[in-house]
Amino acid sequence: MPGTDITGATAIVTGASRGFGRGIATALTQAGARVVGVARDTGRLAEVRAALGEAFIPVTGDAADPDMAGRLVDEYRPGLLVLNAGATPLPRTIQRHTWETFGRNWEVDVRHVFGWVREALLAPLAPGSTVITLSSGAALNGSPLSGGYAGAKATIRFITSYAAAESERDGLGIRFVSVLPQLTAATSLGARYVAAYAARAGASGPSGAALTTEQAGAAIASLAADPALDQPAYLVTAAGLRPVA
Ligand SMILES: NC(=O)c1ccc[n+]([C@@H]2O[C@H](COP(=O)([O-])OP(=O)(O)OC[C@H]3O[C@@H](n4cnc5c(N)ncnc54)[C@H](OP(=O)(O)O)[C@@H]3O)[C@@H](O)[C@H]2O)c1
Repeated sequence: MPGTDITGATAIVTGASRGFGRGIATALTQAGARVVGVARDTGRLAEVRAALGEAFIPVTGDAADPDMAGRLVDEYRPGLLVLNAGATPLPRTIQRHTWETFGRNWEVDVRHVFGWVREALLAPLAPGSTVITLSSGAALNGSPLSGGYAGAKATIRFITSYAAAESERDGLGIRFVSVLPQLTAATSLGARYVAAYAARAGASGPSGAALTTEQAGAAIASLAADPALDQPAYLVTAAGLRPVA
C-alpha cells in the first residue's frame, strides 16, 4: 500500500465477526495493524482470532452501547476506527414493515455511528487519526425492500460529514470518510437482499462482478493508508474505490 504506514497502528473495527468486518480486520492485520474487533457473537470472534492470531483482539458486546464506545476509545485511543456493524433489515415491502422493523438500522447502524463518532470527537482522537463509516450504495438509490435501511445509511453519511466539519473547525486533524459498498451476495446480509430482489418481479440486483469481502477489506485498508484518497465519501465495488460526487 502506498503512503501512510499503518504497521503498529491500533484499529477498532465494529462488526468484525463476519462479512465485510472480518475482511476489513484481515486486511488491516495483514498490513501490520493491531485490530480490536467488536461483535456480539463470542464464538465467531474466536474463529477470527484463531485465523488472524494475536494481532486481533476480540471484544464481545453491542456496538450500539454508548458505554462500549467510550470505554474502548479511552482504552485503545485508536488511530483508525472502522464503524461497520450493521443489522440485517427484514426484506419486505414497505406496507409489510412495522415501525420497529422499519427502524431497525436506525437503532443499530445509525445509533452506533452516532455514539462512536461522538466519542472520537470528544476524546479527541490524535491528529492524523481516521474514522471510516459504512454507509451503502442504497443511500444513493433507495432500497424498497428494506424499510428504513437506505435512509439510515444516508444519515450515516451525513453524520460523517458533520463530524468532518467539526474536526476541521476545531483543528482536530481527524479525518472522517464514509464508504458506500455495492450490494453483494458475499455476506449474509447481502445474500439475503440479492435473493429478495431476484425474487421480486421488476426489480434487479447488482450487475457486473460481485464485491468480495477481501476486496472490501483491501479498499478500507487503502483508505486508511493512502493520503491521496482524501475525498469525503467513496463507492466501493469490485473495481475498487470511486469518489461519490
Ligand atoms: N453486504 C452488502 O451488500 C452491503 C452493502 C452496502 C453496505 N453494507 C454495510 O456493510 C456493513 C457490514 O455488512 P455485512 O454485509 O458484512 O453484514 P453481515 O455479514 O450481516 O455482518 C454484520 C456484522 O455486524 C455485526 N453486528 C450486527 N449488529 C451488531 C451490534 N449491535 N453490535 C456489534 N456488532 C454487530 C455482526 O456480528 P454479531 O452478529 O456477532 O454481532 C457482524 O459481524 C453493514 O453496515 C452493512 O449495512 C453491506
